[in-house]
Amino acid sequence: MSDQPSPEVVIKTVDNGPYQVKGPIRLVDHDNNVYDLGPGRTKLLCRCGMSAKKPFCDGAHARNGFAATERSS
Ligand code: FES
Repeated sequence: MSDQPSPEVVIKTVDNGPYQVKGPIRLVDHDNNVYDLGPGRTKLLCRCGMSAKKPFCDGAHARNGFAATERSS
C-alpha cells in the first residue's frame, strides 16, 4: 500500500475501451459546454475516436472492434 495521499481524480484505461474518469472534475467540451462531475462520480471518455458523442464514449468502440491493451511498462 502506498503512503501517498489518495488523489481526488482517477483516470483508468479500460482494455479495448474508453477512459474511465472518476471525479471531482470539470470537463469543458469543444463547444464550451461544462460538465461538472462530483466526487466519486464517473464518466467514460472516448479513446477510440469513433464515438458520435465525443468526448463521451457511446459504445462505438465495441461495435467497431477497437483494440487497445498495450501497457506503458
Ligand atoms: S472508446 Fe467508446 S466509443 Fe470510443
